[in-house]
Amino acid sequence: MKRKELTLVVLLFVGVLAVVARAEAPLSYAADVEPIILKACADCHGGDSPKKGLDLSQGKGFERLLGVKSQEVPEMVLVKAGDPAASYLWLKVAHAATQGKGMPRTLFGSKKLPQAELEAIQNWIIQGANP
Ligand code: HEC
Repeated sequence: MKRKELTLVVLLFVGVLAVVARAEAPLSYAADVEPIILKACADCHGGDSPKKGLDLSQGKGFERLLGVKSQEVPEMVLVKAGDPAASYLWLKVAHAATQGKGMPRTLFGSKKLPQAELEAIQNWIIQGANP
């Protein structure tokens, strides 16, 4: 193979690797989930007296969620890496929880997050609930 061809092949290979690495980078709390939480949840789950003692304000949510017991259903944790069905946070946003209301709550009831945001949260948990 000529030098020029070899360079081309190498460049192509590096390009393909970059694309694959990007496609496979797991979702992270900071980049993919926290923006949703700050927008839809932190008004209530933040400040001086966060609802249910759950403080999801900037920089605090991850530590407060992963492996931490739910107040409402103490036999469950809020986020169990790899397992949305065993993550009480997921049940709350999917409106499948047995206690209280679905999240996010509103003045008189509750609403559902847009489908794309629900999928981001679900996939983040499935992919290992990375920081
Ligand atoms: C308008 C205020 C309000 C908003 C907005 C809100 N919550 Fe809540 N949240 C509450 C209240 C009040 C409770 C306790 C009563 C209940 O569950 O309905 C609660 C309870 C919870 C619990 C149970 C905590 C535990 O330890 O068992 C989770 C998890 C939760 N919220 C997550 C969220 C998420 C995620 C969002 C955003 C998508 C959100 N909440 C938005 C008020 C709110």
